[in-house]
Amino acid sequence: MAKMKSIYVCQECGSQRARWEGRCSECGTWNSLVEEKQVSSTPVSQGRGWALGQTQKGETLKTVKLSDTITETQKQRVSTGFSELDRVLGGGLVHGSYILVGGDPGIGKSTLLLQMAGGVADHNQNVLYVSAEESVHQTAIRAQRLGVRSNNVEIVSESLLENILELAKTKKPSVLVIDSIQTVYMSEIQSAPGSVSQVRECAGHLMSLAKNMGMTIFLVGHVTKEGNIAGPRVLEHMVDTVLSFEGDHHHQFRLLRAIKNRFGATNELGVFQMQNQGLTEVSNPSEFFLEDRQSSSIGSSVFAAMEGTRPLLCEIQALAINSSMANPRRTSLGYDYNRVHMILAILDKFLNLNSSHSDVFINVVGGLKVSEPAADLAVAAAILSSSINKALPSSICFFGEIGLTGEVRAANFALERAREASKLGFTHIVLPDSNKKHLNQELKENSAKFSYIKSMNDLRQLLGGNTPQKHRNRTMESAEH
Ligand code: TYD
Ligand code: MG
Repeated sequence: MAKMKSIYVCQECGSQRARWEGRCSECGTWNSLVEEKQVSSTPVSQGRGWALGQTQKGETLKTVKLSDTITETQKQRVSTGFSELDRVLGGGLVHGSYILVGGDPGIGKSTLLLQMAGGVADHNQNVLYVSAEESVHQTAIRAQRLGVRSNNVEIVSESLLENILELAKTKKPSVLVIDSIQTVYMSEIQSAPGSVSQVRECAGHLMSLAKNMGMTIFLVGHVTKEGNIAGPRVLEHMVDTVLSFEGDHHHQFRLLRAIKNRFGATNELGVFQMQNQGLTEVSNPSEFFLEDRQSSSIGSSVFAAMEGTRPLLCEIQALAINSSMANPRRTSLGYDYNRVHMILAILDKFLNLNSSHSDVFINVVGGLKVSEPAADLAVAAAILSSSINKALPSSICFFGEIGLTGEVRAANFALERAREASKLGFTHIVLPDSNKKHLNQELKENSAKFSYIKSMNDLRQLLGGNTPQKHRNRTMESAEH
């Protein structure tokens, strides 16, 4: 019998050590080394088993001159039946692409891919859905309940990768779904499914299948408790596209983001809703995120955000109240905590907000996460509104970054943001002065009012002309509605 040997593999970077270490000396991560059993006669192949090219040693390699006509991958895109998913992928599925879909358990990855299989099948493409987590029966019942009844879709339950590869080579589907990469395994590797060696080797073999046979492969990936896709980073390097399916279990909506995409823009966002009949697309997310908004409530402002190439309006709420603690609390949900501190300091300095005795809470409504600095102005307006106890008019919308000297800096995509805001009926748009030149004539001529601001002082004047100073928590008299 072959001798079993223990090696220790870093779950973060995939490097191997003969001995356990508390901290990976390769990537510096603590507690990431996990013991894996290996048969000494069959060492883990380091890429040899699944190399991309199929050339023999000594063979002359073919090169491509850039002056030659190269058939565009763009033309071979297939619609997935979900325009939201198509957009996130950069305009549909590219033949032979290798896609990883990550997300929390129960968020809807399997549902999304089953429905996608149905959509692709409607475009006369064969799909093979391999479930290594659920039985064929279970998956098939679910697929039928989701309305997928095409004979172009086949479902199989298998977790041994060699069998899956064999089946894929005989069936030759256009799209292969592996649900999930952490539950499939190769028999020649001794470590458990989901371990770095297994994930790397299985993903490698599937990559050569995708590239050599022009098959589009979707991998479902689990995420760790930190929110990263479990397994080595090498998995993310190997695939063409990494999609992250996010959402809050307490909310119906689900966001699909492209984190990496070799065939399109990253940061694209697709919005879905989880309902009884599965996922449905939300084609107008701004309306969706502003649905529950009360007109003109204290501490609420609307921010015209950009998610990838698409504008999205969302509500930002702030609550500033007198604190009974020596160190007042600052809590931020959905917006960068450090930026909230920065904005408070700027408001203190330039508008005498005097926030050092207030607890300040910020929340981006609907569980959205806003990472753009352009949200500064909306956050500042919400904080001001709460501090002075005066609601902002319901038809006002903000975007712009605030600098440390109290200046308001230009945001990108000003035209798209303003256009979306006016489309949704916002008649007063507050934006940085330096964005004035980016708006077109057509927009300037429509009924919306544009307030171009340069500094915090302009914001103060716009919101009523008074400073919060000593009169915090009092309604402002010169309130302009
Ligand atoms: P699932 O696709 O199994 O999640 P994942 O593969 O990411 O683990 O989704 C499971 C959740 O979705 C489950 O908690 C119930 C919910 N769901 C619905 O609300 N409606 C539906 O039609 C389906 C299929 C699932
Ligand atoms: Mg699943």
